[in-house]
Amino acid sequence: MADPLWRSRPTDLYGRRDRDRFGTVTWAVGGVFTLITAGSRWKPDMVAPVRRTIDAVITKREMVTPDVVALTFAEPQGGLLPEWTPGAHIDVRLPSGHVRQYSLCGEPGRRTDYRIAVRRIADGGGGSIEMHEAFHEGDTLTFEGPRNGFHLGTCEDDVLFVIGGIGVTPILPMMRKARARGIGWRAIYAGRSREHMPLLDEVLAVGEGRVDVWADDEQGRFATAEDLLAGAGPRTAVYVCGPTPMLESVRIARDAHADAPLHYERFSAAPIIDGAPFELELARSGKVLSVPADRSALAVMLDEDPTTPYSCQQGFCGTCKVGVLAGEVERHGRTAEADDEMLVCVSRSRGERIVLDI
Ligand code: FES
Repeated sequence: MADPLWRSRPTDLYGRRDRDRFGTVTWAVGGVFTLITAGSRWKPDMVAPVRRTIDAVITKREMVTPDVVALTFAEPQGGLLPEWTPGAHIDVRLPSGHVRQYSLCGEPGRRTDYRIAVRRIADGGGGSIEMHEAFHEGDTLTFEGPRNGFHLGTCEDDVLFVIGGIGVTPILPMMRKARARGIGWRAIYAGRSREHMPLLDEVLAVGEGRVDVWADDEQGRFATAEDLLAGAGPRTAVYVCGPTPMLESVRIARDAHADAPLHYERFSAAPIIDGAPFELELARSGKVLSVPADRSALAVMLDEDPTTPYSCQQGFCGTCKVGVLAGEVERHGRTAEADDEMLVCVSRSRGERIVLDI
């Protein structure tokens, strides 16, 4: 069975056991033969990455909660958009030039149009605010993809979906797919109030009694991992998407059942575990920045220059890649880096200082 393989994969500096977005794929590529011969229950619907850039026209813009906008967009001439499977996301190019990733949350596989939903985060990197303010019906939205690193397994028949707020976006199509397959599944959807749970009406409609709702204002407290996992048996496959604290608590609690699959997707950088501090020298300006043990080089660079390019913050998209002039890179990325390159969102310096060509 594949379970010992899951367990054998140590966590990295960022606490990842390669079961999150793209880690699963990266690991699976290397271990695909082992997986097949091991008879794994992890047999995802694979969609090859699509690197083309597509211009779409926004056909519908709606506020689905006070702070979440849903955008529906289609091919301008009415053609079909690329194939996709539940869990897939696209890379949206914002007018500012920034790139941000959003999960597709429409009907699974629907190609006549796509839908995404975006929570406005006032103290985020500005991407969500731009998404809210820059796009209206009739506007052009440019994206790459879709690609998928958060697949719904095809052989799991006992599934619990754990949803936190905007984490509903990749999970909702999975729920629809699970219903269509007729497998056994349940879901718990947690949020601060029903008013602030995007697409809750659709989740409940798909669930037909299989969905528990945890509204903090009704319960008088946040949901604990125990609350969220109450519907999971020791072999239940758990899919979780939501805020980092919720995701981490579920991940840690689920380690008690390491024999069962756990699939999760992050929307932000993973916490840094056992990192070492180092210095970043920016060669062109001569500035030297101190990177503390618990922060990424990217985070420190953003403090210095908020326009520093980034997207996934998890080492797979390559947006933050910069040249290295001196020093040795401790690599934690999941996309190719040349010897003289560094993904500053996850990679660090092996020595006290690294010199970047910026
Ligand atoms: S921001 Fe995507 S690899 Fe660094």
